[in-house]
Amino acid sequence: MNDRKLKIVLVGTGIRGTSFWGKRLVEQYSDILEFVGLCDINPGRLDYAKKYMGVSCPTFVDFDKMVQSSKPDLIIVTTKDSTHHEFIIKGLNKGCDVLTEKPLTTDEIKCQAIINAERKSNKNLIVGFNYRWSPYNTKIKELLAKGNIGRVTSVDFHWYLNTYHGASYFRRWHGLKESGGTLWVHKATHHFDLLNWWIDSDPEQVFAYGDLEKYGENGVLRGENCRTCDVKSECEFYWDITKDKRAMDLYVKNESYDGYIRDNCLFRKEIDIYDKMSAQVKYKNNVVLNYSLTTYSPFEGWRVAFNGTEGRLEARLDIPYEEHISINQAEMHANEMNQTSNEENKYEPIFVHKLWNDFEVVKVPFSRAGHGGGDAALHHKIFKNPDENDPYGRAAGIRDGVMSNLIGIAARKSIETGEIIKIADLTDLEPIKKRS
Ligand SMILES: NC(=O)c1ccc[n+]([C@@H]2O[C@H](COP(=O)([O-])OP(=O)(O)OC[C@H]3O[C@@H](n4cnc5c(N)ncnc54)[C@H](O)[C@@H]3O)[C@@H](O)[C@H]2O)c1
Repeated sequence: MNDRKLKIVLVGTGIRGTSFWGKRLVEQYSDILEFVGLCDINPGRLDYAKKYMGVSCPTFVDFDKMVQSSKPDLIIVTTKDSTHHEFIIKGLNKGCDVLTEKPLTTDEIKCQAIINAERKSNKNLIVGFNYRWSPYNTKIKELLAKGNIGRVTSVDFHWYLNTYHGASYFRRWHGLKESGGTLWVHKATHHFDLLNWWIDSDPEQVFAYGDLEKYGENGVLRGENCRTCDVKSECEFYWDITKDKRAMDLYVKNESYDGYIRDNCLFRKEIDIYDKMSAQVKYKNNVVLNYSLTTYSPFEGWRVAFNGTEGRLEARLDIPYEEHISINQAEMHANEMNQTSNEENKYEPIFVHKLWNDFEVVKVPFSRAGHGGGDAALHHKIFKNPDENDPYGRAAGIRDGVMSNLIGIAARKSIETGEIIKIADLTDLEPIKKRS
């Protein structure tokens, strides 16, 4: 057993980097790890990050200098999506393990470059797919793997983002294709990763539709940003960032360095991503998936249904018509991102309906905090118990990152070309029938 602490650097000191991969690691794991460097292009945000995380390590605006002088064991990448590849590739080339936030990257060329770098390196690349680790999602995996509904043949998966969380993507860099690869990549990568893992096969072909019909140039009201807007009193989407201390400290106070405006107008004309998305995916094992994502639902929630040769499994979270949701829609996402919960212990059901039988309700303990408990479990696996056997195979590596990425990239291409896109045409990875 090595007594030395794991030396970590982090690039991208935004909200996810400073909280989940920053402050939480410092609070929970300081006995086994230490931050030896922080990097961001915004020096003001770097100063704030250091105080917020409670660390005393040096800060850098130059990534290469940071790695050279800090000599880390592990590099954590939490920059905007379109830049992940840069730090992943450099990190692997410099002989470090790399842990990147999802999505792995934003297009197939960068995917291939990451695959090539990983092949040359003898280091690990971990993708932080936290959704797999929530007890609810793990239970779905367990029930399917046990063959409760026979062989899965088709899946319906629908995700509804509400007018707070959904809209938030259109306020900042996520609203531009070149930065986040559209929500097909930025958001849906979570969903495609879950699906690939549940279905236990790689995607083979993708066909998709999508459009921008609510946000962006569709808006009737328009201003520069919420703070300075002349029509804020009429706008249903008005967000007063000045009431959010953390957002003020992290973003507004540091605008002068890089012009990153966190409360941009979500009706600005430059927005070029989709706000409604629908795809069909055929898997190598012949499963057919129907997927949709909407970004302006009155509530935030999701549904999945698996049809199998011997029955059907249905799961859903936060559908207000099916249960009493006492939580305010405006607070829902904030509660998910929080790492502690005030909610009382509760159970969420999964319905298993075998052919010719009554349905059975499987109750799973549930908490909304930290992405349904997934965040904490992911940390534990990576930092405390990396070698522990996991019967559900929840640790995600490069192939998982690439395959979930490629469905979104293929969906985008399908919308642009009107064609069915073959996953095998995007990188040199061949889809396989059975993953586990
Ligand atoms: N797994 C999850 O549930 C989850 C949740 C939130 C965010 N994320 C991911 O975390 C990442 C960060 O998201 P966020 O919401 O914190 O965004 P953010 O905008 O708050 O932070 C991004 C940070 O990266 C910095 N940055 C941008 N380009 C850079 C570069 N070239 N070099 C160095 N720094 C650079 C920015 O200045 C900013 O501080 C994204 O990839 C996002 O997909 C994942």
